[in-house]
Amino acid sequence: EAKHRTQLIRVHQEIAEWYHQLLMKSPLAAAARDYLKGRGINSAVAKNWLLGYSPTNSQLMRQWATEQKFGRQILIDAGILIFSEERGDAYPRFRDRLMFPIRNDNGDVIAFSGRLLQADAKAAKYLNSPETPIFSKSKVLFGFDRAKRNISKAGRTIVCEGQIDTLMLHEAGFTNAIAGQGTAFTEVHAKHLKRLADEIVLCYDSDNAGLKAAERAFQVLAPTGLVIKVAGLPRGEDPDSLLRKEGAEAFSKRIEAAEYFIDFQLEHLARTRDLNDMGQKVKVVQEMAVNVHLFPEPVKKQATIMRVAYKLGLSEEVVRNFVERSQLKAE
Ligand code: CTP
Ligand code: MN
Ligand code: MN
Ligand code: MN
Ligand code: MN
Repeated sequence: EAKHRTQLIRVHQEIAEWYHQLLMKSPLAAAARDYLKGRGINSAVAKNWLLGYSPTNSQLMRQWATEQKFGRQILIDAGILIFSEERGDAYPRFRDRLMFPIRNDNGDVIAFSGRLLQADAKAAKYLNSPETPIFSKSKVLFGFDRAKRNISKAGRTIVCEGQIDTLMLHEAGFTNAIAGQGTAFTEVHAKHLKRLADEIVLCYDSDNAGLKAAERAFQVLAPTGLVIKVAGLPRGEDPDSLLRKEGAEAFSKRIEAAEYFIDFQLEHLARTRDLNDMGQKVKVVQEMAVNVHLFPEPVKKQATIMRVAYKLGLSEEVVRNFVERSQLKAE
């Protein structure tokens, strides 16, 4: 069991280096290098994050595995190869993708996320390793191994959506950034973060998916007592795109100006809903109440009830009623 895990980690470390060498040097990775260049990721950054390239030709991986003395089964267990009953053979999971190593808290490579080099209607933009004995999506946060000390130092965690956002944030000096990698936050994540710092600044993409993800993150993180803020990004931007447009200094101002999630949501709803329509107004109060209810601290609850009431032109009593009713529903 323990030996199997050690072996799986060794497979990941070795293949991460192999993918990396291919990306840096192989003629097969010329398009991948162009892609990186186009995104403003230079070779120092690629090296720093051990980015890689997974080739299309499966013969190459076979050769590599033979040289490394890795058998087929361990590569299947690692999620590197997929066994096909149909073909009675195994083939590489990641083909022609830019590879991002995913590490555990100790910095060991335990999984990969592979990005397509160009949009393809038939394939997912990012393909991730499956759950294995060493990789559980619900426990790992991308960048956490590097960010943990800086999170304690800064007193807050910057949370973004993806690998590229995380690495661009780090390279721009925001070394307390991590990502949940498209998966929802879990209580395991919340506990890890709470141990290091009390404040979270969500820097999700400014699109509908990002807004929803911010609300879900709030709902998992707020019950632990973490302070949840949101950095407002212009519509359509993510940290990577915005850092390239505005630079680090402007981005830093956005982090400093981050609002409490509740205020951010209240502003957003007030802006996008017609509050003169009574039906919509009721819905807005309900949506806010569900979240206000999640604060474990009476002070936060009371203070936000006041803010919601003020913004919507209602009495605190009415809003508190909604909060209490959503409490009943949740139980
Ligand atoms: N993701 C995923 N599978 C997908 C799409 C997204 O696992 N099919 C995860 C990835 O971790 C990705 C994150 O969700 O980084 C956020 O998705 P998105 O905003 O679409 O990607 P970006 O990180 O902005 O990537 P890029 O800039 O390369 O398009
Ligand atoms: Mn841990
Ligand atoms: Mn997104
Ligand atoms: Mn994005
Ligand atoms: Mn992006």
